[in-house]
Amino acid sequence: MNNPNLRAVVTGTGGYLPERVLTNDDLSKMVDTSDAWIYPRTGIRSRRIAGADENVSDMAAAASRQAMERAGVRPEEIDLLVLATITPDTPLPAASCLVQDKLGLVNATCFDIVAACSGFIYALDVARQYVLSGAARKVLVAGSEKMSAITDWTDRTTCILFGDGAGAVVVERSEGGTQNGILSTATGTDGSLAPLLYVPAGGSARPTTAETLAAREGFVRMDGHTIFKYAVRNMAGVTAKAVADAGLKPSDVDWFVPHQANLRIIQAVAKTMDVPMERVVTNIETTGNTTAASIPLALHAAVADGRIRDGDNVVFGSFGAGLTWGAAVVRWGK
Ligand code: ACO
Repeated sequence: MNNPNLRAVVTGTGGYLPERVLTNDDLSKMVDTSDAWIYPRTGIRSRRIAGADENVSDMAAAASRQAMERAGVRPEEIDLLVLATITPDTPLPAASCLVQDKLGLVNATCFDIVAACSGFIYALDVARQYVLSGAARKVLVAGSEKMSAITDWTDRTTCILFGDGAGAVVVERSEGGTQNGILSTATGTDGSLAPLLYVPAGGSARPTTAETLAAREGFVRMDGHTIFKYAVRNMAGVTAKAVADAGLKPSDVDWFVPHQANLRIIQAVAKTMDVPMERVVTNIETTGNTTAASIPLALHAAVADGRIRDGDNVVFGSFGAGLTWGAAVVRWGK
């Protein structure tokens, strides 16, 4: 880290969304809800749902393959894969090991990170530390979720929010003197707030039984109202810290790419940060909340359609179950 020219640079992005679209009108046939209730409160009109045989490792592999292609990096060059997910294909092994096999990342060490909606930021932070310490040169960072598998489709207070998908970036070590790359990261956790958003059963404390199945305890439970309050406060706070740590002011932020949990949360955070909505990237209307996949999916869309350009200051901010929160600032370009 003593080399002032050393940078962790984001060199490619990728995204994957399953084909099946579930609209608010479709949901209104499953539970007592309506587009008129969901859209104004969340900004969501539809979300994608993975097929029965389409798993987190498949979606992560698709997004990662695209990110490697766009970065011009071959699978055997990747020396680390960090996959953020709360919905791995199976409890054991880590889904990242399955992604390694699917992509032929023969020289990569692979592990998963469990930090819910902050997972991508946590994983990006790990990638940055590996690259700056010299432990890795080319890292894949992916977020992939099959939230439909842990969503209670009879609970209208949660099932309206979530969707499936994956996003990925390649992070590379650069010693060439570029001013681009990851300028700062900031993260935080408060485990005392764990009961606000959790899955009661299916872990070692309460393994799945006929009883837990009958009580629908294998699905997400959430105190949405309280989460909303903490989300705005923590996401705005950590994002402001990352911006300041990067030596930037709010007016220097070209693009804010927030976790896509709820459009009202995004609007409140942007307002607190003094960033106008024209500079905020949102795709929640058609993706819903894809947890760890949400930021890299929104990022990839904005890079692929040319909104984000070389030299732009791009800011990520998130919060999620844990509670966890995190932010990062990237000056875009190789
Ligand atoms: N359709 C119709 N009515 C509904 C629905 C629905 N889908 N859901 C709840 N209601 C009803 C409630 O029963 C309640 O009725 P009541 O007043 O008769 O009791 C009323 O609508 C209001 O419910 P609230 O929960 O107070 O609604 P709120 O305005 O808070 O909106 C929401 C709910 C959208 C979930 C909001 O609280 C929110 O977005 N919170 C944050 C959620 C979030 O971001 N979670 C993080 C997940 S990220 C992760 O880490 C996985």
